[in-house]
Amino acid sequence: MKQVLVTLCMVCFSVGTSYHASKEFSGKTFFDDWLFYDDVDNLTNGMVVFASASSAAKTKLAYINSAGNAIMRVDNTTTLKLGQKRNSVRISSKDRFAVGSVWVADMLHVPFGCSTWPAFWSQAEVWPEGGEIDTFEGVNQIGQNTMSLHTEPGCTHQANATQSSTIINTIDCDSRANANSGCGVADPNNSSYGAPFARAGGGVFVTEFAETGISVWFFSRQSVPSTLQNNASTLDTSTLGLPVANWPTASCAINQYFAPQRLIFDITLCGDFAGQSSVFAKTCPGLCYEDWVLGPPSNFDDAYFEVQSVRVYSADGLDTVIVGSGAFSRWTGRLWWVGVVGVLIGMHFDFGHVV
Ligand SMILES: *[C@@H]1O[C@H](CO)[C@@H](O)[C@H](O)[C@H]1NC(C)=O
Ligand SMILES: *[C@@H]1O[C@H](CO)[C@@H](O)[C@H](O)[C@H]1NC(C)=O
Ligand SMILES: *[C@@H]1O[C@H](CO)[C@@H](O)[C@H](O)[C@H]1NC(C)=O
Ligand SMILES: *[C@@H]1O[C@H](CO)[C@@H](O)[C@H](O)[C@H]1NC(C)=O
Ligand SMILES: *[C@@H]1O[C@H](CO)[C@@H](O)[C@H](O)[C@H]1NC(C)=O
Ligand SMILES: *[C@@H]1O[C@H](CO)[C@@H](O)[C@H](O)[C@H]1NC(C)=O
Repeated sequence: MKQVLVTLCMVCFSVGTSYHASKEFSGKTFFDDWLFYDDVDNLTNGMVVFASASSAAKTKLAYINSAGNAIMRVDNTTTLKLGQKRNSVRISSKDRFAVGSVWVADMLHVPFGCSTWPAFWSQAEVWPEGGEIDTFEGVNQIGQNTMSLHTEPGCTHQANATQSSTIINTIDCDSRANANSGCGVADPNNSSYGAPFARAGGGVFVTEFAETGISVWFFSRQSVPSTLQNNASTLDTSTLGLPVANWPTASCAINQYFAPQRLIFDITLCGDFAGQSSVFAKTCPGLCYEDWVLGPPSNFDDAYFEVQSVRVYSADGLDTVIVGSGAFSRWTGRLWWVGVVGVLIGMHFDFGHVV
């Protein structure tokens, strides 16, 4: 029902660059509105078991630290036997966010090291039909963040995209092309990944999911604009400068290739990307699983996200949050109030009649 309203309103409001805050994940309640995968990585063949919410909390794979930030990590305490997988975390937001949304992720540390494959990304309910937006992704000891889209055939990265990066890995976003590498753009800034990211105090990733195109900005801590430093209730993306990556709608019709997105954090090990022998050998010695996953647990001391907040903004005039299962739907809430008011009005008339 709400989806229908959102779609209708896409037509009745012109979408600009002004947004208002609509969803926040931060502090003690950070983990409340996410689903934990609770299964082996049967999605990318990684050598991990994604923990349930209760086991992740109990084993401190997902918790709020003393600074009030969300930690999501790979198990760095267990020595494994041949054949076993390492415990890790994959969470996806209960809510979905429609075209006309911006998500802002403020992080202090991202996972890195040989065999790790972390990502902060989003995906529609049906893939690849509804598209995938990767805001942050890296593997092994690679130096920089890569941002990509994965879609149905027909969506490409445009040569004249308004973006600062000149490192364009692949232009075809089709998930069936180039072994599903997507259309990726790398951030030239070394502080966008790995140890340099953490040394610089982390930074803020901004993803704009607009009808006019998809854009990603990255600001290293010392260059985070003041509009993103506090819990601003509004955001104007036209003040952020040139994005590092941009996919204009001209060569990838956003409304056609993208459906409402669920946000995801995950850390897998080896698997289809990090574990590919040619990819692995580029930045790491030895064998991904045998030498690293089965190796000393301290190999994973740096394999964690430390997230201060994730905030979602909706274009002015739109409510782009589609409240998911497990959460009290605001739409249902409104119907409930309509019901209560209706009953009160009914009672009023009844009383009038009786009295
Ligand atoms: C992964 O496993 C879960 C639970 O067994 C199952 O529901 C899901 O369909 C599987 N996904 C894939 C891609 O095989
Ligand atoms: C970018 O290229 C497309 C064709 O691929 C063209 O339609 C569009 O006008 C160009 N935009 C700019 C800003 O040059
Ligand atoms: C980024 O790191 C690479 C490899 O370590 C190095 O060659 C390059 O100079 C660095 N770039 C900047 C801007 O520091
Ligand atoms: C890259 O990150 C450094 C370190 O935080 C920052 O000072 C610099 O401005 C960034 N460079 C670009 C091109 O964004
Ligand atoms: C951030 O602002 C929103 C209102 O826009 C408010 O609901 C929320 O509690 C604030 N969060 C923090 C951590 O202050
Ligand atoms: C796991 O790594 C964290 C740093 O991320 C460290 O504080 C902790 O001591 C490590 N655990 C063990 C058992 O070494």
